[in-house]
Amino acid sequence: MSPLSVRGGPSSSLKRWLKSPAARWTLYFVALCPAAWWFWLGAQNRLGADPVRAFEEFLGLWAYRFLLASLLITPLRIAFSINLIVYRRVLGLLCFSYAVMHVLAYLALDLRFDFRIFGDDITKRPFLVFGMLTLLCLSPLALTSTNGAIRRLGRNWKKLHRLAYVALVTASVHFLMAFKTWHTDAALFVAFGMFLLIFRGVRSFQNPKRRRVA
Ligand code: HEM
Repeated sequence: MSPLSVRGGPSSSLKRWLKSPAARWTLYFVALCPAAWWFWLGAQNRLGADPVRAFEEFLGLWAYRFLLASLLITPLRIAFSINLIVYRRVLGLLCFSYAVMHVLAYLALDLRFDFRIFGDDITKRPFLVFGMLTLLCLSPLALTSTNGAIRRLGRNWKKLHRLAYVALVTASVHFLMAFKTWHTDAALFVAFGMFLLIFRGVRSFQNPKRRRVA
């Protein structure tokens, strides 16, 4: 199967374009537009009554969305023969970019880089610990996303990249704990994340060879 194939999908020239680096750069550009747009709205003071909170939440939510999207690539290929593997690295890096912007927004706008407040904040809002753990898991994944690192790490690269599932768990706890009350949207996102985790678990249980290698 070609690296990007959709059964009964688009015409061959479109298919070729979708596999090209230009398509991946377009995805980077389009996917970073919401951040630029919200930054601009923030600068214009058009983000509502609590702009700092709105901006932080917006960036965190997109980081979580891109994490889900990157982990959806394999189930899509297995269940529907939709092969979007060429976009997995882009989606992972977009998740990391939004996560870094989310944390920077928190550090700059909430804490004003006063790290003494951070200690207090963590004791009041323990969900921040799970956010930090998520960032800790995502960082080595982003750093080892280059072709050189993939070659150097060999099989260990796949092992290391299982951290994405740990990141999914910690990000989900962080997400749910960020709210004091029940939030249906958050619960639905997290339920979808758990579905992806179960899918991965079932797959490696059914195919123990893959568990050793992948
Ligand atoms: C050092 C790491 C992190 C810190 C300090 C942090 C901080 C925060 C804070 C302060 C909030 C609550 C904003 C508010 O409502 O007042 C929040 C919410 C959130 N964070 Fe993080 N975060 C971190 C990492 C992450 C990562 C890596 C992700 C995703 C991959 C993430 C996803 C979210 C989500 C989805 C929310 C809820 C957004 C919403 O309300 O819709 N965070 N985070």
